[in-house]
Amino acid sequence: MQKELNKIAKDTNLFLKKFINKQKKSELIIPMQYGLFSGGKKIRSKILIDVGSLFEINYKSLIMIGSAVECIHAYSLIHDDLPCMDNDSIRRGKPSTHIKFGESTAVLAGNSLLTMAFEILSNKNLKISEKNKNDLINKISECSGHLGIAGGQYLDLTYEHKKVSQIKITQMEIKKTGKLFSFCCAAPLILKNKSKIEIKRFEDIGADIGLLFQVADDLIDYKGNSKIAGKKTGKDKIKGKATLISLLGYKNTINYANNLIFKINNKVKKYGSRSHNLSKTLNYILNRSK
Ligand code: IPE
Ligand code: IPE
Ligand code: MG
Ligand code: MG
Ligand code: MG
Repeated sequence: MQKELNKIAKDTNLFLKKFINKQKKSELIIPMQYGLFSGGKKIRSKILIDVGSLFEINYKSLIMIGSAVECIHAYSLIHDDLPCMDNDSIRRGKPSTHIKFGESTAVLAGNSLLTMAFEILSNKNLKISEKNKNDLINKISECSGHLGIAGGQYLDLTYEHKKVSQIKITQMEIKKTGKLFSFCCAAPLILKNKSKIEIKRFEDIGADIGLLFQVADDLIDYKGNSKIAGKKTGKDKIKGKATLISLLGYKNTINYANNLIFKINNKVKKYGSRSHNLSKTLNYILNRSK
């Protein structure tokens, strides 16, 4: 798994470096690059490639679309660490972007990474139809805004120190983290001009994968080693974050995550051996330590 992730990270970073180099220079490029290239597993791009392989989508297009996703992901992490949000000073084993460059610069670098995603998807070097581009941009916007990342982050913060039901916790986690995975799962079907129903089916699979990813992240916070994780652990409890662990306990949360994997595998098994890569990625997501 690590070898495959390394290759995806290398190809994605190479694309992004070239993309940024082609643009005019600005003072925000250094903090943007810091947020983009300071590590990161590129797991969302891996999911995009796993689903892309079910539909025989060309690798170059997937790397470009994944690069746009990674820009949005990097933006969301820069903002997530800000003092007004989770107030975290370490990310990927290094000082968070606002610690390194200051708060206002971190906000602006984050904004610029968000909009860079749309520049990438509308770029002429992405060789897909104009309709496909439009549909991708429409979908990724929906997944990032008030119905996706931003809306989920809002709920995450307002649920602090409150007793919140299981359904509300999972809905919040699906918004803040799941929706970007929904985009990754929907994108290959959009490129193949599949029906709305088929696209929705994969968006739902993506929401479950994202939920699994966030539950595993919460487990890392609960039990993980901060040196390995590259960020402080044990902080969700201090901040009173509403997580499945705080509601159901550690063991029940592990069972919940295993059930999610079972459910997702059931939905993709009709693709036969082509779905094995995706299944392996699901196991990696739950068992990872960073
Ligand atoms: C961390 O995401 C934030 C969550 C959505 C849980 P990742 O664990 O994918 O972060 P990097 O990119 O690998 O550092
Ligand atoms: C972040 O969730 C979700 C985002 C959309 C950025 P967390 O706040 O749990 O992520 P970490 O633990 O700081 O990486
Ligand atoms: Mg957070
Ligand atoms: Mg955080
Ligand atoms: Mg976390």
